[in-house]
Amino acid sequence: MSYLNRIDVISSHLNKQQDEDEEYLIDSPTGATTKKETITVTDNRTGKSYDFKIKNGTLNANLFKEVSETADDNGLMIYDPGFQNTAVVTSYITYIDGDKGILRYRGYPIEELAERSNFLEVAYLLINGNLPNKSQLDQWNNKIMTHTFLHENLVAMMKTFRYDAHPMGMVISTVAALGTFYPESNPALAGQEIFKSESVRNKQIFRIVGKLPTIAASAWRHRIGRPYNTPVNHLGYTENFLYMLDKLSEPDYKPNPVLCRALEILFILHADHELNCSTAAMRHIASSGTDPYTAVAGAAGALYGPLHGGANEAVLDMLTHIGTKENIPQFIADVKGKKKKLMGFGHRIYKNYDPRAKIIRRVAYEVFESLGKEPLIEVATELEKQALSDEYFVSRKLYPNVDFYSGLIYKAMGFPTDMFPVLFMIPRAVGWLAHWVEHLEDPETKIYRPRQVYKGEWYRNYIPIEGRPPAKVRSQDSYSSSTTKRYSKLSQ
Ligand code: CMC
Repeated sequence: MSYLNRIDVISSHLNKQQDEDEEYLIDSPTGATTKKETITVTDNRTGKSYDFKIKNGTLNANLFKEVSETADDNGLMIYDPGFQNTAVVTSYITYIDGDKGILRYRGYPIEELAERSNFLEVAYLLINGNLPNKSQLDQWNNKIMTHTFLHENLVAMMKTFRYDAHPMGMVISTVAALGTFYPESNPALAGQEIFKSESVRNKQIFRIVGKLPTIAASAWRHRIGRPYNTPVNHLGYTENFLYMLDKLSEPDYKPNPVLCRALEILFILHADHELNCSTAAMRHIASSGTDPYTAVAGAAGALYGPLHGGANEAVLDMLTHIGTKENIPQFIADVKGKKKKLMGFGHRIYKNYDPRAKIIRRVAYEVFESLGKEPLIEVATELEKQALSDEYFVSRKLYPNVDFYSGLIYKAMGFPTDMFPVLFMIPRAVGWLAHWVEHLEDPETKIYRPRQVYKGEWYRNYIPIEGRPPAKVRSQDSYSSSTTKRYSKLSQ
């Protein structure tokens, strides 16, 4: 990071601190001005007014149950499709200011962690709340790196997948299956209280963080028809992962250190992002008290989609489709005409340059220096330039997100696109587990159960089939497999 960039980064983080201090002074009981931390809501249907308390910049949604029109209605609900403005937890893990492009883990700016830390240290920070000292880190690394081996039955199960199975499908299923090897850690079998024990929780964390790279590397080896490698516990986390992916018969195979460090940085950047779609899914599933293997598998399912963790795969498809710089203006016109989407752009929270995208852009060039330039980078940088100077993207505050450049790095490193979500999942599992632990310790934790607005049929009596008119339904068409087509030919 250049000197000037570093100053920019530090001052953006410090400015917010000043804002927070100012707010604190106004609220101080000794201050001259005190703010009234309430909001008055007037229901124009009834003329009644309600004073609701504001806490941490939020209103408690349950208060709106009081706002009723008649004695027998249940009051108002908050309608928020896609949870665009609903806080469902109080969290201490990750802070994002989407307008200023700030991301911090446990208070540490992402830029500092990416530059100075490593993935397992960041994992400790996210899950346990503070950076470890030397002996704590040694113990943590040792615990994770001695939970990397898979049960042979699990390996045998992975080998039953089809040769061309999507690695994400393999990894999700295998993580869910992993839980069946530890019945003592399954609340359905061992009781709902088991995770009150920190030792039981930690054991599952070591297993999941330790074994995920082994599962991911095995899914890759499966695809290319090579024997799965066993882990080497004295290697670093990403070093061991790259080793398991690539080792053939070399007695002292050492992965490229530039790529190990690039992957460490990418893993740090992807480790947590507060309540994104998959982390919300993790909390949602865990809220029913299920085991963390099932919850991580479910969260990974949410990550898999092209609007979330599958976006870097979609970016690469898009860049390949655009092909050359000359085709960019037409592509942008198609996006503006809503015929296409500029993948890797836009974010629900960031309305500024995603700070992770800035770091990834730099890492991309470091990887290209070691491995040679990925030709699509020219298309990507030109596409970014043209989009950032176009009114459509400027007015909607659409900037590159974390996925815009990460796919290019992965491609340059030789990963096929369907491995990209797997590379996202390995580090994000750490974030999911940090939220799992926070959820277990939160006294306000409740099972997730959103409400709905019901607009369906109100009441109908059952009519016997002979007396029913044809049902109004959506199309019942489905495509035919070739076998069905041949059968139907026979019957004609
Ligand atoms: N390309 C073109 N137009 C866009 C894009 C885009 N990538 N993203 C948003 N818009 C437009 C959208 O059409 C809408 O325009 P209008 O006001 O004319 O209807 C406006 O911007 C607001 O968009 P939105 O859909 O309301 O925004 P959202 O917060 O619901 O969606 C998003 C966020 C990330 C799903 C979306 O920006 C998107 O689909 N981006 C492309 C997929 C992508 O890169 N995803 C990775 C996200 S970062 C990593 C992660 O979360 O895993």
